[in-house]
Amino acid sequence: MKSHRLLCFLILAFVVTEKTAAQSPETSAAKRQHLSMDNDWRFALGHAYDPSKDFYNGTGGFSYLAKTGNGDGAASAEFDDRGWRKINLPHDWAVEQPFSPKGSFSHGSKAIGRNFPEASVGWYRKSFVVPANDLGKRVSIAFDGVFRNSIVWVNGHYLGTEPSGYNRFEYNISEYLNYGGNNLIAVRADVTLEEGWFYEGAGIYRHVWLNKTDQLHIVSDGTFVTTQLKNNMVDVTATSAIINDDKESRSFNVTQTIIDDNGKVLASKTTTGLTLQPFASQDINNILPVDNPRLWSIETPNLYKLVTTVEEGGAATDSYTTTFGIRTIRFDANEGFFLNGKHVKIKGTNNHQDHAGVGAAIPDALQEFRIRALKEMGCNAYRCSHNPPTPELLDACDKLGMLVIDENRLMGVASTQLNDLKRMIRRDRNHPSIISWSIGNEEWGIEGNITGARIAATMQAFVKSVDSTRYITAAISGGIGSGISTVIDVLGYNYVATKNTDEQHKKYPNQFSWGTEEGSTVASRGIYEDDMDKHQLVAYDRKQNDFFYSLEQGWKYYAARPYLAGMFIWTGFDYRGEPTPFGWPSVGSYFGMLDACGFPKDDYYYLKSWWTDQTVVHLLPHWNWRGKEGREIRVCAYSNCDEVELFLNKKSHGKKTMDLNGHLEWQVKYEPGTLEAIGYKKGVKAGSDVVKTTQEPVSINLQANRDVIKADSKDIALITVKTTDKNKLKVPTADNEIGFSIEGPGKIIGVGNGDPTSLEPDQYLERINLVHIGDFKEKFVDDLNVKAEVAADYDDSNWQNAFKDTRDDEFGRKVKAIVYRAGFTMPADGATATATFFNKNIGKVQSIYINGKEIGHEIKENAGKTEFKLEAALLHPGNNIVAIVATPLLKANIWAGVNTDPGLIQLVYPAALYKRKLFSGYAQVIVQSTGQPGTIVLQATSPELKQSVIEITAADK
Ligand code: GAL
Repeated sequence: MKSHRLLCFLILAFVVTEKTAAQSPETSAAKRQHLSMDNDWRFALGHAYDPSKDFYNGTGGFSYLAKTGNGDGAASAEFDDRGWRKINLPHDWAVEQPFSPKGSFSHGSKAIGRNFPEASVGWYRKSFVVPANDLGKRVSIAFDGVFRNSIVWVNGHYLGTEPSGYNRFEYNISEYLNYGGNNLIAVRADVTLEEGWFYEGAGIYRHVWLNKTDQLHIVSDGTFVTTQLKNNMVDVTATSAIINDDKESRSFNVTQTIIDDNGKVLASKTTTGLTLQPFASQDINNILPVDNPRLWSIETPNLYKLVTTVEEGGAATDSYTTTFGIRTIRFDANEGFFLNGKHVKIKGTNNHQDHAGVGAAIPDALQEFRIRALKEMGCNAYRCSHNPPTPELLDACDKLGMLVIDENRLMGVASTQLNDLKRMIRRDRNHPSIISWSIGNEEWGIEGNITGARIAATMQAFVKSVDSTRYITAAISGGIGSGISTVIDVLGYNYVATKNTDEQHKKYPNQFSWGTEEGSTVASRGIYEDDMDKHQLVAYDRKQNDFFYSLEQGWKYYAARPYLAGMFIWTGFDYRGEPTPFGWPSVGSYFGMLDACGFPKDDYYYLKSWWTDQTVVHLLPHWNWRGKEGREIRVCAYSNCDEVELFLNKKSHGKKTMDLNGHLEWQVKYEPGTLEAIGYKKGVKAGSDVVKTTQEPVSINLQANRDVIKADSKDIALITVKTTDKNKLKVPTADNEIGFSIEGPGKIIGVGNGDPTSLEPDQYLERINLVHIGDFKEKFVDDLNVKAEVAADYDDSNWQNAFKDTRDDEFGRKVKAIVYRAGFTMPADGATATATFFNKNIGKVQSIYINGKEIGHEIKENAGKTEFKLEAALLHPGNNIVAIVATPLLKANIWAGVNTDPGLIQLVYPAALYKRKLFSGYAQVIVQSTGQPGTIVLQATSPELKQSVIEITAADK
């Protein structure tokens, strides 16, 4: 051991020492700050091609690409964004838009994209203070994902463009900052072009962070932990990349420490005598042995932390914590998948990243809710179809015990695609939940041919060069036996109804395989009669057409073949877009086991009965068939009991024996009353389900998934809205429209009901209309005390256009004062809005008149930005007149300009009250903390129904 260390010292010029387990890794001097930048942004829609509607960005003589710091229009630090909406992240402007048949149907028909240039560019601006004593630190801004084609500026300096909406990106902004003062970050996102064929959202829909470190620091995504289990101990190989961004060389030590959940130190090593030249980086590698590790598994997702600390001159200068898990994974070509040496059949679901009400802007707590809901169904694996997910989704999978396929977006081997792939892997490689990297999905142009085989083989080798500890897959729709399927390590079948997996297995006996998509069933939750006019499909399990299996056929196929590691259902949750087999006006998919709100469909219980050990007895359909008395109704039971007996109004309709992975059916003549299924295991009653005929709804019922949430402006509660009849039975067919109002430190951030055909708004927001003031005319006068020229009806037709003369000193000597006049157009409904004039002085001193009435008197230029509320009585629909009497603003030097922009008028239309119709008895309201502690009160009302109120506590802890 000693001689080995000496060798290390000689070769690598550093020495490794081991520390005792008693030392604390979290040193107080760890200067790194990881600050949320989610709150207090301003947002406005720009325009995809009209610069005048895109805040004149890129119109300056020298563009921001021509000269450093030349971000113009809304990219400029000086731009006045007071009229813009205030928002917090994550934010998705697509979900705010109405639906339109001209929208992209694969994306959920929201009015964005190619046909909507006025709604396809979004601008975000945020002002933030950087303390003076941060000078010298390395400050960077990190975006977890912006959809899409984002351009970022800080203080007018162009930082970069990120084409993909799924990549994390980070820019060093240290040199651009104003230390001890205000700074401005501007982001332009453009969703004109789609990346996927499913709803993708729009804007900064993931978190943003400000990272502050020492110039000598641990690289972002630069740590990598791998584990090698040996009996009762594990060797943890910890790699920490350190970079010196300083202008001089730095000498330092690096300590890598493993701690458990309770903060107990399990192993630690210090690498001393390190030196890095400016801009050089180095990977520090150590093996840290840990005895009796608690393994990460689906049932017990134990996590550990690696704390990397950089020390210089006895003080810690940077510290970075990496969460990881200790587990082994193995595929076997004949037996499937093994976790920690134990066989696990993959019971997976595919999912996109949107939810009812909020679209792609999913709060962290909602990620967790969704993973829990899938786990309760027995799902043990999640495929991120078809893009790298939000980091918090992976955190939830680590925490809750959910295996993951992390999927690359676009296949390809140009540096663009390989770099994207590398970024995904480096970002995500420490998540124990991830067992496989997927390099692509259904690349129809290449999957069955030699080009596909070449690209896949190269990508696969490339992935292994970044992370050799996971298995690599690709999802194939056709072309089995050729192309990608001949080279990929883990073959992903998308839909086996059209494929012969046994033949492929025989031909490639060493290839691992699983079903990356299966069970493509289409169903509307709670609907038991097809209605093609209403776009409603029964929730009984059935195959879509000959190209697909039903859920049961699919699962039976996979369950019967040990060489297939398992399958991923298409899909866990319904998502926006792809309303197969319909088009407009359906806007959401029908594929989910749960709907877009997370309300289970009946299929969920089929899977739960065969995917969990819990006793399941689930009956369908509902028993409200008024008018169908005496007609036969198809009754099904999903259960894992040996036998199930069905009763209607206490009369037995027979006991039936359950097949493995099957379900049971009866034809029952309808009569109102109580349908009951009793499940038996080994002849003993093990469970039951009851469905009763209900009366009309009389009351609203609200139920929250959590009574207490954090008062942090991020946490949420999901409120289920139902109705009950006079006997307090939930009414499964109710479709009442329910209105919602909220008080206290909470707000509604979205509503949904899981109906793929619903065109109701997801959000009810205040609307902002920015009214621009037209081109000014001007007349020179003697002083500010003019009367006639500011009157609304003054005839200015022979005045000259304003700002024709250069505002130099000579102009200043000649002209004492100027009257400027221009019109602005108030919309017909303007009186329902709150109007504010956001002034920007165009004079050294100026008075402002609207329709002849003075609203601002002798405002000085150095008074800063001023604003005036405008009474509704002052304004009228159509043309209104603004007159400004001013002493002239003069250029500071011959290159300078003067402000000619008078500001604008903001109209704020109040938000309508939230409302939503129930669909098959349910709706969902998502309530978010506004940041203060207290009681949030949500009230639900509907004509003729008894109202309901629910309280949620927002608590500091
Ligand atoms: C698959 C595809 C999925 C989804 C699904 C809908 O071919 O991989 O992303 O589009 O079809 O049926």
